[in-house]
Amino acid sequence: METTSDQGDPRIRLEFDAPVAVLTVSRADKLNALDAAMVEALADACRRIERRDDIRAVILTGAEGKAFSAGGDIEAWSGEPPEDFGRFWVREGHEAFDRLARLRQPVIAVLNGHALGGGLELAACADLRIAEVHVKIGQPETGLGIIPGWSGTQRAVRRFGSQLVRRMALFGEVFAAEEALRLGLVDQVAKKGEGLSMARAIASTVAKRGPLATETTKMLVNMAEGEEVGRVGEALAGMLAANSAELREGISAFREKRPADFGKKSKD
Ligand code: COA
Repeated sequence: METTSDQGDPRIRLEFDAPVAVLTVSRADKLNALDAAMVEALADACRRIERRDDIRAVILTGAEGKAFSAGGDIEAWSGEPPEDFGRFWVREGHEAFDRLARLRQPVIAVLNGHALGGGLELAACADLRIAEVHVKIGQPETGLGIIPGWSGTQRAVRRFGSQLVRRMALFGEVFAAEEALRLGLVDQVAKKGEGLSMARAIASTVAKRGPLATETTKMLVNMAEGEEVGRVGEALAGMLAANSAELREGISAFREKRPADFGKKSKD
């Protein structure tokens, strides 16, 4: 197992155990609540994962304790000047969470403790969610007088449906694991302490599937969900163009300081 400790914030732990990467929110004393530095470290960790061809699936979990994540760090965001809350806190959270949701590898979230507010928004970025039987899931933000600002009214609606989000975000309903399974908030329920091994078993089957087919299929599903319409179109077109004789001719012509001859070369 290769642990990357040079990534800045030890509260976002990234371990490479090819073909699987394990990303752990590691701040158990504060129920794995996320502050701005952790959000930045999460985005960084995603960048590192993206670059690894040997990584075929990602497991996202929380350091052992009561919570997978109790959400955004209340002390951190409540101290921000009001304009900065939108300008930085919400925006940077979106950037990191978008990166996670758009990772080329499938992501399996193991909710080994409660997923509340930003914790659920984080879990919503995954492609599959396993909840251990004791966990609770909800969106308590309006009870604090704040909105679910890391895509809890957007990606969560797309993934879980607006009615469920209404129940959690407007009425404060909190769901236990079995009910969350019935409602489609999670995909599997594991016994306490067994979520990670269940995720590893699933990850090893993912790792046997065609990597490019899996990556592009994930892009397309994301696109159908409205996750990243413009970027997916450009990424797929970019993959096609990057493989074309046309591009090879264009680059050669540039380097040889001559006009490109697409008529001839594009038939190669
Ligand atoms: N932000 C910052 N700190 C948090 C936190 C959060 N979202 N959630 C928990 N913590 C901290 C607590 O302040 C406490 O710190 P302390 O020991 O220094 O006092 C520690 O984590 C343990 O939490 P505590 O509230 O004592 O545990 P509990 O078992 O009594 O309650 C919860 C558990 C999850 C019900 C409760 O922590 C809670 O409601 N958290 C906030 C959830 C939320 O509203 N999330 C959305 C935020 S936008």
